[in-house]
Amino acid sequence: MAIVALALGSSPAAFAEEAKPVDPELLAKITKSNNECFACHTKAGLKAPPQDGLDLKKLEATLRDPDTFHASNHGNMECKQCHGQGYTKYPHAEGAAQQISPCSECHAVKVYKIEQQWDKSVHAQKLKGKMTCNSCHDPHVAKIASKLGDPKLIVAQDNAMCLDCHKSDLAFSKLAPDNRKRPDIDTLHSWLPNTKAHWQSVRCVECHTPQAKTLSHEVLAKDKAEKNCVSCHSSDSALRTRLYRHLVQAEENQYGFVNTAILKSSYVIGATRNQFVDWGIIGMVAATVGGLGLHGAIRVLMSILRRRNRK
Ligand code: HEC
Ligand code: HEC
Ligand code: HEC
Ligand code: HEC
Ligand code: HEC
Ligand code: HEC
Ligand code: HEC
Repeated sequence: MAIVALALGSSPAAFAEEAKPVDPELLAKITKSNNECFACHTKAGLKAPPQDGLDLKKLEATLRDPDTFHASNHGNMECKQCHGQGYTKYPHAEGAAQQISPCSECHAVKVYKIEQQWDKSVHAQKLKGKMTCNSCHDPHVAKIASKLGDPKLIVAQDNAMCLDCHKSDLAFSKLAPDNRKRPDIDTLHSWLPNTKAHWQSVRCVECHTPQAKTLSHEVLAKDKAEKNCVSCHSSDSALRTRLYRHLVQAEENQYGFVNTAILKSSYVIGATRNQFVDWGIIGMVAATVGGLGLHGAIRVLMSILRRRNRK
C-alpha cells in the first residue's frame, strides 16, 4: 500500500511513481487530518471559523476547495505531507512557509529530467530566480494529462497556466523586468486564423517548445516558435506525439491504427478527413481538368489561326 509506506516514513520518491488504490481506513485517516485544515481554509471555514481572532482578510486569500483537491494528483495526500508540522496549530509557526516541500522531494527522477529542460527555457534564463515550478503548477488543483483524457480539458488546464500571466497585467508585471508592458496575446498571434478557436484546441506549449520532443519544459525564445501550419495540419500531425499522445496510444493498443483519436475530438484540417479537404480536392481536380481543356482549346484555336494566316 503506497500511501501507508509514505505515512510510515519510507521514501516518498519510491512510491510517487506507482498509482495503487488506497486503503479505505487510511483514506478516512487522511480525510480527518485534512478536515482540520479545511475547518479554516474553505469558504465554509471563512464564514464560521472554529476560533476567534483570525486574520479573516488573509484567510480569504488562502481558501481551497476540498472537491477540487480530492480530484487532483495529490488528492489522496495529507496536507501535512507537504506543509510539515508548522501549520498544524494556529497561529501557524514562524517560518512554516520555508518548510513547504519542493516537487523534487517526492518526484526526484522526473524533476531531474524536467529541470534540465526548464533551465534552458526563456523563463528560467530571463526571469532567474523569480519563476518556479509553482508559478505554473498548483499542486492542490492540477490533474495529470492522462487522467484528464479529453484533449479539450488538457488544453484548458495547460493554457490556463500560461494565460494566468500572459493575460494578466498584474501577474505579468510582478515578474517582468523594468516595467515591461505585457504584449497582448491575441494581437501577437493575429497571423493564426481564428485565434480563439486555436486557443481552445491546441496548447501554447505545442508551438513554444522543441518539436522533436513529446513534452518539454523548454519554452523557446519567440523567434524559434512554430509558425508552420503543416506541422499540425497534415496526416503525420505533430499533435499525435504531443497533445493526443494518450489517446493515440490507447487507439493503437485497440486498433493498431492511426488518426482516429484526432478525428474524434476535433477537426484538424489536413490531419483528419474533412469536408474542406474534400472540397479542396474537388476544386483542384476541377481546375486541372478545366486547365487542360482550356489549353487544348487554345491550341486548336491557334492552329486554325496559323492555317488561315498561311493562306
Ligand atoms: C510530499 C510529496 C510530494 C510533493 C512535495 C509533490 N508531490 Fe506530486 N505526487 C505525490 C504523490 C504521493 C502523488 C500520487 C501518486 C499516486 O497517486 O500514485 C503525486 C502525483 C503527482 C502527479 C501525477 C503523477 C501520476 O503519474 O499520476 C504529478 C504530475 C505531480 N505529482 C506533480 C507534482 C509537482 C509539479 C509538484 C511540485 C509543485 C509535486 N508533485 C510535489 C507526492 C508529492
Ligand atoms: C484555526 C484556523 C486555521 C487552521 C485550523 C489552519 N489554518 Fe492555515 N491559516 C489560517 C489563517 C487565518 C492564515 C492567514 C495567515 C495567518 O494569519 O497566519 C493561514 C495561513 C496558512 C498558510 C500560509 C499562507 C501564506 O501565504 O502565508 C498555509 C500554507 C496554511 N495556512 C496551511 C494550513 C494547513 C496545511 C493547515 C492544516 C494542517 C492549516 N493551515 C490549518 C488559519 C488556519
Ligand atoms: C503536493 C504538495 C502539497 C499538498 C499535498 C498540499 N499543499 Fe498547500 N501548498 C503547496 C505549495 C508548494 C504551496 C506554495 C505555493 C506557492 O508558493 O505559490 C502551497 C500553498 C498553500 C497555501 C497558501 C497559499 C495559497 O496559494 O493559498 C495554503 C493555504 C495551502 N497550501 C493549503 C493546503 C491545504 C489545506 C492542503 C490539504 C488539503 C494542502 N495545502 C496540500 C503544496 C502542497
Ligand atoms: C511555464 C509553465 C511551467 C513551469 C514553470 C513548470 N511546468 Fe511542469 N508542466 C507544464 C505544462 C504545460 C505541463 C504539461 C502537462 C501535460 O499535459 O502533461 C507540465 C507537466 C509537468 C509534469 C507532468 C509530466 C508528466 O508526467 O506527464 C511534471 C511532473 C512537471 N510538469 C513538473 C514540473 C517541475 C518539477 C517544474 C519546475 C522545475 C515545472 N514543472 C515547471 C508547465 C510548467
Ligand atoms: C500555432 C503556434 C502557436 C501557438 C498555439 C501559440 N503561439 Fe505564441 N507565438 C508563436 C509564434 C510563431 C510567435 C512569434 C511571432 C512573431 O514573431 O511574429 C509567438 C510569439 C509569442 C510570444 C512573444 C511575445 C513577444 O515578446 O513578442 C509570447 C509571449 C507567446 N507567443 C505566448 C503564447 C501563449 C501564452 C500561447 C497560448 C495561449 C501561445 N503563445 C500559443 C506561435 C504560437
Ligand atoms: C508566472 C508568470 C508567467 C507564466 C506562468 C508564463 N510566463 Fe511566459 N513570460 C513571463 C514574463 C514576465 C515574460 C517576459 C520575460 C522577458 O521578456 O524578460 C515571459 C516571456 C515569454 C515568452 C517570450 C520569450 C521571448 O523570446 O521574449 C514566451 C514565448 C512565453 N513567455 C511563453 C509562455 C508559455 C508558453 C507559458 C506556459 C507554458 C508561459 N509563458 C507561462 C511570465 C510568465
Ligand atoms: C500546433 C498545431 C497547429 C498549428 C501550428 C496550426 N493549427 Fe490550425 N488548428 C489546429 C487545431 C487543433 C484545430 C482544430 C480546431 C477545432 O477544434 O475545431 C485548428 C483549426 C484551424 C482552422 C479552423 C478554425 C475554425 O474556425 O474552426 C483553420 C482555418 C486553421 N486551423 C488554420 C491554420 C493556419 C492557416 C495555420 C498556420 C498559420 C494553423 N492553422 C496552424 C492546430 C494547429
